[in-house]
Amino acid sequence: MDLFQEQARRNTEADATWELYTPHRERVTQLLLGARTSTGERLCLLGAGNLNDLDLAGLSTAFREIVLVDVDAAALQRGLTRQGFAEDARFRVVAPTDVCGAFAEFAEMANGQQVRDDAINHCLRTMAQLPDFGESVGFDVVASVGLLTQLIEGVVRSIGESHQRFWEVVSAIRTQHLRLMLDLTVPGGAAVLVTEVVSSDSCPALLSVDKCELLGLLKLEIAARNFFTGTNPATLQDLLRTEFTLADQLSSTRFAEPWLWQFLSRIYAVYGLTMRKYG
Ligand SMILES: C[S@@+](CC[C@H](N)C(=O)[O-])C[C@H]1O[C@@H](n2cnc3c(N)ncnc32)[C@H](O)[C@@H]1O
Repeated sequence: MDLFQEQARRNTEADATWELYTPHRERVTQLLLGARTSTGERLCLLGAGNLNDLDLAGLSTAFREIVLVDVDAAALQRGLTRQGFAEDARFRVVAPTDVCGAFAEFAEMANGQQVRDDAINHCLRTMAQLPDFGESVGFDVVASVGLLTQLIEGVVRSIGESHQRFWEVVSAIRTQHLRLMLDLTVPGGAAVLVTEVVSSDSCPALLSVDKCELLGLLKLEIAARNFFTGTNPATLQDLLRTEFTLADQLSSTRFAEPWLWQFLSRIYAVYGLTMRKYG
């Protein structure tokens, strides 16, 4: 499977679902606006894709510059055009850019190449060098929306869940992603991770759960280990406490109340984690 083509195919499929995203878009946009400090002016959106989950009109009143990053440059252009910002100089597109640094290597492995130890070692080394965003790094808010699960799925499709080094690579890609987010964030700024945690495919109760019962349902599902690989919020919280390259930079971490996001016939439970850096 070609991982680049697969991301582009999914973005094309999701392109016509703007309306369905409305409640999800409102939650994500509010979370990003809430993460801004009074002096915050620059926003970086990682894996911004079609921009369906981001209200650019709202964000562009709060941020002077918004940088959009994705492997799929065409999706970003479509998203900017749909929201009427294709010619707006406040938006800067940095694409195609791979945020994990080893997407091409994963894509090669997914194309049927034998997964060799030296190829995995090469991926881990490449990931350790964070991607270069040019001279203008230093954002007041950095967001990753729906990207973590896609990065991990790249590992599932290339290395495979049964490979003995699968967890090592998943955990490396997750830590690298959090490090990248914090490295791009200015002191005092915030990195906001929004991720799906489970869907109605494995948790049909999401189809009818009351908003006020969602948190309780998710606690049960997570205790029963029913969540997307690598997204357990308790594990993320532990990682942010114990991995010193992350913990040393953080003044606080805060989970927002989870919410539901409907995508076609499937419903996802989503949570947002705001990581504030020391000033
Ligand atoms: C679930 S989508 C995010 C949805 C998007 N925020 C929207 O509203 O349309 C995940 C996005 O991550 C992008 N992506 C996947 N792997 C990536 C990588 N290694 N580097 C950068 N972007 C990546 C995909 O192209 C896709 O646009």
